[in-house]
Amino acid sequence: MKPISKVVLETPASGIRRFFDIVSQMQDVVSLGVGEPDFDTPWRVTEACIYSLERGKTHYTSNYGTIELRTGISDYLRAREGLEYNPENQILITVGVSEGMDLAMRAILNPGDEVIMPEPCFVAYKPCISFAGGVPVPVCSYMEDGFAVKPEQIEAAVTPKTKAIWISYPTNPTGGVASRETLEKIVQIAVKHDLYIISDEIYDRLTYDGKHTCVPTLAGAYDRTIFLNGFSKAYAMTGWRIGYACGAPNVIEAMMKIHQYTMMCAPIMAQVAALEAIKNGYEDSEAMIEQYSQRRRVMVKGLNDAGLECISPGGAFYAFPSVKSTGLTSDEFSERLLFEEKVAVVPGGAFGECGEGHIRCSYATSIEKIEIAIERIARFVSKLK
Ligand SMILES: Cc1ncc(COP(=O)(O)O)c(C=O)c1O
Repeated sequence: MKPISKVVLETPASGIRRFFDIVSQMQDVVSLGVGEPDFDTPWRVTEACIYSLERGKTHYTSNYGTIELRTGISDYLRAREGLEYNPENQILITVGVSEGMDLAMRAILNPGDEVIMPEPCFVAYKPCISFAGGVPVPVCSYMEDGFAVKPEQIEAAVTPKTKAIWISYPTNPTGGVASRETLEKIVQIAVKHDLYIISDEIYDRLTYDGKHTCVPTLAGAYDRTIFLNGFSKAYAMTGWRIGYACGAPNVIEAMMKIHQYTMMCAPIMAQVAALEAIKNGYEDSEAMIEQYSQRRRVMVKGLNDAGLECISPGGAFYAFPSVKSTGLTSDEFSERLLFEEKVAVVPGGAFGECGEGHIRCSYATSIEKIEIAIERIARFVSKLK
């Protein structure tokens, strides 16, 4: 047989999955590894879907998604951020933010185009860029800067081949948040070099200290930003696979063209559920966010007390402590912690080279489990001294 695609062959499988295949074979493991809410989807959302299924809503929708959901998203963004996206041609309903990322890359990139992306970042960014024929250009962000990238580093990475800057604050895996000033500078770099901005704001609602800065609201950003968001995190809807992309009509139309031929539409039942979430689910999600905020304090204090330096993450539901003081690499630390103390975390190197020396600890799990995990981590770290 002839070989499969070179780009696919050269892309490593996700470091997270490999690790969790091992975890799934073990017993009594406390997992801080998962990147999804431990809460069930709010019942009103599930019920709205069941009700619609009982009424025979099981068909294709418009390729863009139902006009009801697009209008609901448009109203929500106007009320929350003062943003105006026309539901007719500036909003595309996608199969999770994951599909939105893939569509964005395929819609704007020509072979060899470069995309600047701060690391550590979500594991799918690099493959998405490569699968679309682009070249990922990682720039490091550091703990001492709260894991916000320095705009100067982005500027230094710009070449004549740069097509886009891909940012995501709050960030997976660090929980880092960029200040409004930093984001304004990044937008100005994009304006100066005429670049697209991809802004994945899936964790926007999970911002704990102060107000989230929504990138397309910044001066100069609106026309050049592909704004990605979804329901997985804030509404505990990971399995529904539903998200959305907003942007300039020509870009959204290009993304829709790919979506039309490859996906047709997002599942109608998930669209019905998402509409209920965005219209009536705000308080349910606020209650979950309040829980994450409490867990964050327990996690960060516990990790620091255990001897792992950890800054308080401004958003998402991850802490990203340094394990450098232990002398172990993040792979070694994570593997030994799993086998010796049965706590699962994700090695920071899975999120890009500059994640090395850190581990990702998700606090999307109960306080009781976090406390058990912290006790075990403290015991493990003290053994290493
Ligand atoms: C930063 C980021 N973007 C996108 C996604 C994917 O989200 P979805 O479930 O909407 O596809 C994740 C999931 O962990 C994420 O962390």
